[in-house]
Amino acid sequence: MLKKLLVDVHTHVYLPRYADLLRSRSAVPRIIPAAAASTDSKPSERLLILDHEPSGGRPVGPQYWSRDEKLGFMDKHGIDVSICSSANPWLDFLPTPDASDIATKLNDDLEEYCSSSPIISDQRIKRLYGFGMLPLVPGISTSALLDSVRQISLLPHLKGLIMGTRGVGKGLDDEALDPIWEAIEKEKLVVFLHPHYGVDNDAWGEKENGHVLPLALGFPFETTVATTRLILAGVLDKFPDLRLLLAHSGGALTQLSSRLASCIHHDPLVASRLKHDARYYIGRLYYDAVSYGSEELQFVADTIGRSGKYHTSSADAGSTTPGSQRMMFGTDHPFFPPLNGEIKWRSVVENLEAIQGVSGWSQEQKEGVEGGNALKLFNLVQ
Ligand code: URA
Ligand code: ZN
Repeated sequence: MLKKLLVDVHTHVYLPRYADLLRSRSAVPRIIPAAAASTDSKPSERLLILDHEPSGGRPVGPQYWSRDEKLGFMDKHGIDVSICSSANPWLDFLPTPDASDIATKLNDDLEEYCSSSPIISDQRIKRLYGFGMLPLVPGISTSALLDSVRQISLLPHLKGLIMGTRGVGKGLDDEALDPIWEAIEKEKLVVFLHPHYGVDNDAWGEKENGHVLPLALGFPFETTVATTRLILAGVLDKFPDLRLLLAHSGGALTQLSSRLASCIHHDPLVASRLKHDARYYIGRLYYDAVSYGSEELQFVADTIGRSGKYHTSSADAGSTTPGSQRMMFGTDHPFFPPLNGEIKWRSVVENLEAIQGVSGWSQEQKEGVEGGNALKLFNLVQ
């Protein structure tokens, strides 16, 4: 019998070309040199990508760009396969012509990063696959974006693409994206939807709380809002086979889905635009299992699993499927590294223990979340 694989669907890399781009910049996002960074005893380069980075940025090193470091991290935690994505803020800050050119090169770089990774011989799959990226910046032409979707679809180790929430400047409910969704759907690529901007910083008040509020709340709320807008624009009606994987278990989307459905019901303008109850669409999405707690995982699975009840057709109404089949283990590496010299990363161990601790899941369901679901979604099953 083949060994059950542990697959990480939420793991990032700043490819060397991207790190160099950040080094060349004098404004955020940027990497600042070790010497200029601080008076630490062990100076390292520092990454500035978010507003108000605490103490001059986060220390960065090879764990952000080296493939050997990625494989070493995977070995340390028993991770067999990683589906790697560039980390935020992708190309959002670039002018249009540069964005297209760099996206093409970074997609080729990522293909090389993955294709030259070791093979898991008894399963005949590689250890690394990737999510490419599109040059999603204001002013970009539809044809340039379609070229980029085509490029990704032709690179055999890229199984999808990572996307932020801004689209080409107006968010993911912008009709200008319809041809792009259509192409992504046709090519059977998975969109990994990931936050970067959080919500308005005024919401965080004046107390110094480091990155806790933007990362714990702002990131997931951003995903919640972006996905809701996409649903309200009818994108999932227009492209029923589009596959979206939401970072951080979809933020607050599942918790708020019945409230969302009720608000839509009371708003005839929006209600008339959608084919189904909002709760149906919630169950059409895929979710990483990066939520650090068993109860949260169980809740997300239960909420998405009831989606069939909200299908408008009476044939499907009432059906439920285990929501866990749409959930997948992730680590968010290289973010959230250990602080006290622990060998294993707490952020990883917690997410693994959370899956094993879900009282309502069978061992088979847990193994699905650990790897089997991802192998199916990314068509890696032999
Ligand atoms: N911090 C980031 O900037 N990105 C992540 O994905 C996680 C933490
Ligand atoms: Zn992430």
